[in-house]
Amino acid sequence: MIIANWKANGDFESNKVWCNRFIERMSSIGSKSIGIAPSHLHFNQIKSDLKDHDIEIGFQDIDIEGGARTGSISPSMAIDSNISFCLIGHSERREIFNEDNNYISKKYQALTKHNIKPILCIGESYKEFQAGKTEKKLQSQIEKCILGKTIQENLIIAYEPIWAIGTGNTPKPKDVNTIHEFIKDVVQSASEKNLRPKVLYGGSVNKLNAPDFFVEKNIDGALIGGASLDANVFSDIIEIFSRHKEK
Ligand code: 13P
Repeated sequence: MIIANWKANGDFESNKVWCNRFIERMSSIGSKSIGIAPSHLHFNQIKSDLKDHDIEIGFQDIDIEGGARTGSISPSMAIDSNISFCLIGHSERREIFNEDNNYISKKYQALTKHNIKPILCIGESYKEFQAGKTEKKLQSQIEKCILGKTIQENLIIAYEPIWAIGTGNTPKPKDVNTIHEFIKDVVQSASEKNLRPKVLYGGSVNKLNAPDFFVEKNIDGALIGGASLDANVFSDIIEIFSRHKEK
C-alpha cells in the first residue's frame, strides 16, 4: 500500500487541482492499494473528489474519545466520516505534541474498539540509529503501543526513522528490509492468530529511490510526505509500486 501523508499542507483550490491530475494519471495505472491522509479540514473534499475511485481516505491522527476535549476529533466522528484508516504515533505527534507510547496505546485501543484500520508509526532517532539501538527502540515502541491488546488483522506498521523524515537521507533499502522482517516477527510472536502485519517504509521516499525500496520482499509499501504533495510525483511512485508488487 502507498499512503500520502499530507501533514498540515493543502488548501481547497490546490487540492482540487491535485485530485484532477491524480485521477487523470490513475486511469492508466489502476493500482488498488492507495491511501491519502489529508488534514481533517480537507477530508470531505478529498473523499468527495475521489469518490468514484478505489482510494482509501484516512486521518493523520485521532483522539482517544469524545466529549469535553476542545480541539479534538473523536473515534465516533471518524466512523461518522467513514474513514478507511488512521495513522497513530507519527514521530511529529510524539515530538511536537508530546505523545508517548502510553497515549498512543490508548489511541490504538480506541481504533480497535471502533474497528478502524490502524497504521502505527514507529522509528528511531539518529542517535539511536548510530548507537545500533534501532531494533531495541522499535521493539519497545511495539510492545508499549500494541502488545497485550487485541491485534487487529488489518494492522499496518509504518517504519519511519525520524532522521529520514524530510531530510533526503534514507537507510539502505536492504537494511530496511531486515528491520521490517524484525517488526513482522515481533508482532507475529505476540499475535494469538499468528498475524504478520504489512510494514510500510516512510522517510524521504521519492520516485528515484522508490524502486530500490519496492524490490525488497518485506517492504510492503510506503508512507510518503513531501513527495505526495505533487500529484505527478505521487502517481509516479504508485506506478513503480504497482510494477514491483502488484504484478
Ligand atoms: P517525507 O516523505 O517528507 O520524508 O515524510 C515522511 C513522513 O513523515 C510520512 O509520514
